[in-house]
Amino acid sequence: MLVLGIESSCDETAAALVRDGREVLSNVVASQVAIHARFGGVVPEVASRAHAECVSRIVERAIADAARSQPATHNPQQTTRPDALAVTVRPGLAGSLLVGVSAASALALAWDLPIVAVHHLHAHAYAPALAGVAEYPFACLVASGGHTSIYECRAPLEVELLGQTIDDAAGEAFDKAAAVLGLGFPGGPAVSRFAASGNPRAYDFPRSKLADADDDFSFSGLKTALLYAVEGPGMKGPRLELTEKVKCDLAASFEQAVCEVLVGKLLAAAARRGLRTVSVAGGVAANRKLRAMLAERAVAEGMRAAVAPTELCTDNAAMVAALGYHQLARGEGRGPDRLALSIAPELERPARRKR
Ligand code: KG4
Ligand code: ZN
Repeated sequence: MLVLGIESSCDETAAALVRDGREVLSNVVASQVAIHARFGGVVPEVASRAHAECVSRIVERAIADAARSQPATHNPQQTTRPDALAVTVRPGLAGSLLVGVSAASALALAWDLPIVAVHHLHAHAYAPALAGVAEYPFACLVASGGHTSIYECRAPLEVELLGQTIDDAAGEAFDKAAAVLGLGFPGGPAVSRFAASGNPRAYDFPRSKLADADDDFSFSGLKTALLYAVEGPGMKGPRLELTEKVKCDLAASFEQAVCEVLVGKLLAAAARRGLRTVSVAGGVAANRKLRAMLAERAVAEGMRAAVAPTELCTDNAAMVAALGYHQLARGEGRGPDRLALSIAPELERPARRKR
């Protein structure tokens, strides 16, 4: 079954064709980073307009790329016609989600195809399985500009939210740190570039909630600690002179603190549930220090770190099409009321267990 996935929950417009939840024939992503950079963050109204302007083109390109990926002996028209659609409906920016859902519903109506509603974070948590690097069960941290959540993944559609951030997301913390240091947007790549030449022990930033026996995160105290390190305690000067070396040391110390918390809490969550494989997805999974620290610490705990390639970790539609396949395979998305898809911008809270 060939599934066309469409993703537009934040600032990437993406479309992909994936066969049987595993074989990625095309994976097209149009990033709006350049559009939002001058505002220093994603502006929802600007994002939905940009999605609307390019979604048709991105879908066409995904279909064309998939046709090119087929052996010349095949009739490309035949082999790249989707059998079904999968679209992100939650969570995300309401206006952005609506654009993807409208586009996907229109195609499902026009082509008379099944269509399923996909949970964006469950799709991120499917990336390690899609990439073929992790076997179920595993614990997956999804860390991006909007989310920092830990999932227990037992099967593609059997994922349980264990905990999440109670304030800022990890990617958001990187973006805010970059703003304080004057490094531009998006902040993650810039902070880690500076961090590479800095001393991660130069500043002692807080590791909030690292020692707590829950699976939640908090990054707002870390962000404030960085701000106070630069502007003086309570922002009452004297201001630190942001020389190149100081910026590198601050970036390295900040990155070290974020990574220690992400890795420490993920491993603790996995250990509490007896999971031996750990993974990370979302934009922050592009961070090299995070990948290296996770690999090293997992081995020390007798676990295995299995992380998908970056293009399947950042926002993309291949993960949406791939997870959607499993929903279709269990019979979802058929019948006349399949087009009545509704969006759900908010992320649900985890079910609290007694420990
Ligand atoms: O998943 P994503 O592409 O989009 C959403 O937020 O949904 O994630 C983008 C986030 C941004 O906050 C960005 O700063 C962060 O991921 N990011 C990084 C790195 N590359 C991107 N954070 C840390 N280190 C990186 N190398
Ligand atoms: Zn995402």
